[in-house]
Amino acid sequence: MTSDRYGVFDDAAREYVIERPDTPLPWLNYLGQDDLFGLCTNTGGGYTFWRDARLRRLTRYRYNDVPLDSVGRYLFVKDGASIWNPGWKPTKTPLDRYECRQGLGYTCIRGVRDGIEVELRFFVPLGQNVEIWRTTVRNVGVEAKDLSLFSYAEFCLYEALNDMTNYQRTYSIGEVEIARGGAALFHTTEHRERRKHVTLFGCTREVAGYDTSRDAFVGIHNGLHEAAVPFAGRATSSVAHGWNPIGSHQVDLHLDPGAEETFSFVLAYAEEGGTPAGLAVLDRYADPAVVDEAFERLRAFWDDLLSRFQVQCPDPHVERMLGTWNPYQCLVTFNLSRSASLFETGIGRGMGFRDSNQDILGFVHLMPGQARRRILDLASTQLSDGTCFHQYQPLTREGNADIGGGFNDDPLWLVVSACAYVKETGDTSILSESVGYADLPGSRDDLLHHLETSVAYTLGRRGPHRLPLIGHADWNDCLNLNCFSTEPNESFQTAGDVEGAGAESVMIAGLFLYAVRELSGLYRHLGRPDDASRLERERTQLLEAVEAEAWDGDWYLRAFDAGGRPVGSRACDEGQIFVESQAWCVLGGAGAHDERARRALGSVLHRLTTPDGVVLLQPAYRRYRVELGEISSYPPGYKENGSVFCHTNPWITLCWCLLGDGARGLESYLAICPSTREERIETYRCEPYVYAQTIAGPDAATPGEAKNSWLTGTAAWAFVSGAQGLLGIVPDYDGLRIDPRVPGSWDSFHVTRRFRGTVYEIEVRNPNGAGHGVSSLTVEGRKIDGNLLPSRADGGPVSVEVVLGSRTDRGRTATAPATTRVATYDRP
Ligand code: GLC
Ligand code: GLC
Repeated sequence: MTSDRYGVFDDAAREYVIERPDTPLPWLNYLGQDDLFGLCTNTGGGYTFWRDARLRRLTRYRYNDVPLDSVGRYLFVKDGASIWNPGWKPTKTPLDRYECRQGLGYTCIRGVRDGIEVELRFFVPLGQNVEIWRTTVRNVGVEAKDLSLFSYAEFCLYEALNDMTNYQRTYSIGEVEIARGGAALFHTTEHRERRKHVTLFGCTREVAGYDTSRDAFVGIHNGLHEAAVPFAGRATSSVAHGWNPIGSHQVDLHLDPGAEETFSFVLAYAEEGGTPAGLAVLDRYADPAVVDEAFERLRAFWDDLLSRFQVQCPDPHVERMLGTWNPYQCLVTFNLSRSASLFETGIGRGMGFRDSNQDILGFVHLMPGQARRRILDLASTQLSDGTCFHQYQPLTREGNADIGGGFNDDPLWLVVSACAYVKETGDTSILSESVGYADLPGSRDDLLHHLETSVAYTLGRRGPHRLPLIGHADWNDCLNLNCFSTEPNESFQTAGDVEGAGAESVMIAGLFLYAVRELSGLYRHLGRPDDASRLERERTQLLEAVEAEAWDGDWYLRAFDAGGRPVGSRACDEGQIFVESQAWCVLGGAGAHDERARRALGSVLHRLTTPDGVVLLQPAYRRYRVELGEISSYPPGYKENGSVFCHTNPWITLCWCLLGDGARGLESYLAICPSTREERIETYRCEPYVYAQTIAGPDAATPGEAKNSWLTGTAAWAFVSGAQGLLGIVPDYDGLRIDPRVPGSWDSFHVTRRFRGTVYEIEVRNPNGAGHGVSSLTVEGRKIDGNLLPSRADGGPVSVEVVLGSRTDRGRTATAPATTRVATYDRP
């Protein structure tokens, strides 16, 4: 295994094909889309949980293990003296061939050794609390073979934190039940006392033996790579009493050359009905046709979802990301927020308020009904004064009291997500849905009033420069301007703030300008011009404060600290310029009339833009600053202290598009695009098919190295920046607006978009290289004025032809200098 290529996109199959198992980091995928979820790496590593990765963890994972990622869905093959795993781990016995296909909701691993091919396909059927390991064993050699297979699943004792910390209890509670000669192994811990549910690990084929005790299967002094039972070739019929319960089946096979067998292992969670319910599930999937049909339904589900937005264009990265991988990541982030990945343990955080609201932006076109429910759930974690629980637990829907509220950007994201929902669906009935406030049990209010409560929260909390107070932090969790933490034993996030400290945030100001413009547009749509004007007046006043107080000469300041000193100013020795305030002020409409927007973006280009994307700030902080908080606790170039914090990059893409510069917009889009990273994968290390949260910046020791892939707000914003910013397919209250900002070099592109039940086939031509400005719009052969496709209820398909070229783009300036080069970062 010496090639430096690890895999390749199979675009037609919508799969990423990993060709060698020793990837630079484990490359993760997710199984499940409803209630049961699995994390599955390219070697089968990971775990399974039901709804809540902390409270209903079904199988166990050891984060930060050595070697990394060494527990998961394992199958050991004993072929004579050779013991191997089709997914390479844990034995790491060399394979003649290995392939892992990471697909949408499934992982397919195939290993070949000595004439035996084993294929494992892991997936969760739609709507079922079952994870299937469809297993095919083929004799592709010339000799008859007698093999023994040993499955392995390690149970977690359900409450994952307790499972990792409280051994005086957990080592005595584990229980199992064994049925059907060991084909059905039940994890029944606490079932007698207070749990209704059980977990089954079953095999649909007759078994030759079983184990349920980890110590018996592995051996107390062994690692999984040298597990005793597979090496001995015989299961021990062990019954776990306490300690560490597992499930393992022994399956013996005789295969003549050319012969193959297909059967499944089934990990099922039964909430009600106990072990009989588990046996019913096992029976159901004993028929391979039922398994295959469930898999086909999963494929069809994804084909249907993705058909809502497809693009053909000159850039293969844009096509593949917007057409397949980005919406896939958006669905996963919508489901899991920031709870469970290889970087999030499923224990630390529940659903984040700002995160989940932003996730909706990239998800709402996929499953508007679920987005609706989520928005209402989020609104119910708002308090009556407008603040919001920063996080809540999905199972209980209760706010996480440790971290509380006081992140002052939070309330405004609810406005942004609710408006995006109405723009996508036209469904204004959500606004009159009744939702309570978390601090007033039994209270009721409508969603629209929650949005007003959010706006009032910001307006009611402004500081000496008339700018919004930051509270504990804004979007940048680590900008803790009121915290002054000197105590190493406390978390920055829960430490609390100094009484009365009044730091202000320019980022929240920009977000306010944006959110309130959305909301006043909604009021106009609802036929309530007075409310719209009232909000516009407030917005104008805040805009004046931003322009009067927050302009630093070439860019917008980031904040004023608790002592009223500017943060993100040329007057600072470090942290002179931050990206968030440039992005949000410009997106919020600041600097639109006096070149400031353009200058701010020019400063982003010259001071923050690197070939790996836009870094969060420059210069990075080199020492801890008590008045700034967690941000300065990170080494330079990492995380919030000057990495390419990817979440912010699509905002800048959108800004370039807003300024009419599609060429820079595309450069900015591609700079963080994971599929471009196959070229530099040894440096980048994370999955090339999903966005990561950060890429180490130029100040770091490992520039270009990504971390924290999968669960990041980058997913939703990348989708918005590509679909709406660049391609210009923009849901609006009264229909679908067409407003592309593509490079002049693009001749044409085609988008298929399902919008409010109608499919639009949109062909956009760019005959004279303008890249923007709709000069003509033809719908079903008839020219219409403007650039709005009115909603229609006929289902379509509706053919739309767009010609770009003139300056009909009201109010949006469009003359930033064209460039084809990604500017390199100039150190100030
Ligand atoms: C993480 C958090 C998100 C925050 C960002 C910047 O991505 O999940 O809420 O905005 O970091 O600190
Ligand atoms: C966000 C930031 C991270 C910070 C965390 C809270 O997720 O990305 O840097 O540590 O919030 O502790």
